[in-house]
Amino acid sequence: MKASTTESLDIAAIRSDFPILQREVNETPLVYLDNAATSQTPEPVVETIADYYRHTNSNVERGIHQLSQEASIAYEEAHDRVAEFIGATGGREEVIFTKNTTESINIVAAAWGLEALGPGDEIVTTQMEHHSSLVTFQQLAERTGATIKFVEIDDEGYLDMDHARECITDDTKLVSVVHASNTLGTINPVAEISEIAHNHGALVLVDGAQSAPHQPIDVEAIDADFFAFSGHKMCGPTGIGVLYGKRELLESMQPYLYGGGMVRKVTYEETTFEELPWKFEAGTPVIAQGIALAKACDYLDAIGMDRIEAHGQELAAYAHDRLSSFDDIEIYGPPADDRAGLVSFNVDGVHAHDLSSIVNDHGVAIRAGDHCTQPLHDTLGIAASARASFYLYNTREEVDVLIEAIDDARQLFA
Ligand code: ALA
Repeated sequence: MKASTTESLDIAAIRSDFPILQREVNETPLVYLDNAATSQTPEPVVETIADYYRHTNSNVERGIHQLSQEASIAYEEAHDRVAEFIGATGGREEVIFTKNTTESINIVAAAWGLEALGPGDEIVTTQMEHHSSLVTFQQLAERTGATIKFVEIDDEGYLDMDHARECITDDTKLVSVVHASNTLGTINPVAEISEIAHNHGALVLVDGAQSAPHQPIDVEAIDADFFAFSGHKMCGPTGIGVLYGKRELLESMQPYLYGGGMVRKVTYEETTFEELPWKFEAGTPVIAQGIALAKACDYLDAIGMDRIEAHGQELAAYAHDRLSSFDDIEIYGPPADDRAGLVSFNVDGVHAHDLSSIVNDHGVAIRAGDHCTQPLHDTLGIAASARASFYLYNTREEVDVLIEAIDDARQLFA
């Protein structure tokens, strides 16, 4: 459903935090509409990274000296801040810093799945997953002898919940579902899916790559056993992802990577491991990135996740309405008033790559291709699509520039 907001965002003030938005591309102002791939980084986050390297840079949990102490405290507290951002009341112990969403999902597959699954077990996922989870669980099924099932989507791009109820059985050990589809813009009923899965004794992984940046998240309200997301799509830096897991589950799992930082006592014969979350953060971890992600959480919360959500949905609805006025444009996914802040589409007779190249001449950045959802594109009967994805700094005027640029492409190919 459309999020409600009592007060709209001060876009001019927000844009002043993102100097990159002032730059030109092809001698026209940049219109950055590729936020589902990577969002831009506000000055307070850039400053946090620079400040860390200028004043605190050191390794963590390894030194008695002042810099190491300061870096360790900041890094530990960053886990608490991220836990708070997603409603994980267990704090830092339930938040593992990784490289990205993909690595977070791979930890679940390797550290939980390889141990827990075998022939006869089932993994249930959906037709709208991106490759981060789809490929990972396909491989997990192949390696363990488990079966993988895909919940189908209907003609509007919603999950077929009757099919979900059929697919999830007592043989299901894991249900992995994307919270917000990066291609269709569908927002899935993850709390309902969790309930169905838990009634059958299955665990639930929610892929929050496209939801954590755009809507308030409460991992406990949706009762996710695991929740994965990336920093670089939510005003944070690249190279940082998060795996949330329920504490008792993470405690029961074997580490994913072995080495320094995750050990307590090592002898030539055996090793005991550190407590959570360090057990899953072997080697020198993502220190600057983690501290900067905590700052990104501060930045987004200060603006308000409910308002950010409403803004993205308003822009997507506006873009959807304007694109719908062309009868040679096909839009994928749910109706304008019920979608996440992105729109994927195709212009009849114009390949998405050509379209992206032409709108780039107008300074507009969109994504073109399969958006890491090749099987979903097969289901839709298309090889590729163009995608405009919005964030807190985008404006209706920028949507208008996109539409003009698309119209230009239509004329060129007419
Ligand atoms: N999965 C990311 C996207 O949708 C990279 O662009």
